[in-house]
Amino acid sequence: SQRTLVLLKPDAVRRGLIGEIIGRIEAKAGWSVAALELRRLDGATLEQHYGEHKGKPFYEPLVAFMSSGPVVALVVEGERVIDGVRRLAGPTDPIEAAPGSIRGDYGTIVRENLIHASDSEESAVRELKLFFPEL
Ligand code: GTP
Ligand code: MG
Repeated sequence: SQRTLVLLKPDAVRRGLIGEIIGRIEAKAGWSVAALELRRLDGATLEQHYGEHKGKPFYEPLVAFMSSGPVVALVVEGERVIDGVRRLAGPTDPIEAAPGSIRGDYGTIVRENLIHASDSEESAVRELKLFFPEL
């Protein structure tokens, strides 16, 4: 089985959607939460996490948004969770995301799209090390 890094972004925490979103993940057969913490992300962590987007026009506002309040960081474990959580989340732009997906049901703004999930095995390894080095 696989492990992936999930972040419930500051908009999800502010809007009281932590339980709703984790509930959707936990409802999938065989998937489970292996670690979970409410925390504020510092600049260094965000720079590493979103380094691939440095220099893009949305990078600075993205980092500011991700620092605007606490996030919930979690490790999700189970069969095919890396692609699976991305599918549950839906596409980056919530207006493109189908109803039934997390972004499709709750989002309208590209930046405030509620959830991050690792996009590949390589990203998952890197991000799990960054957010949960002790695991
Ligand atoms: P993450 O799980 O947060 O990494 O989202 P993603 O993998 O679906 O998207 P990506 O890694 O390409 O972009 C990271 C984040 O930057 C997105 O979740 C958006 O919040 C934001 N973002 C990406 N593209 C755009 C864009 O074109 N405009 C704006 N305003 N924000 C963007
Ligand atoms: Mg991404």
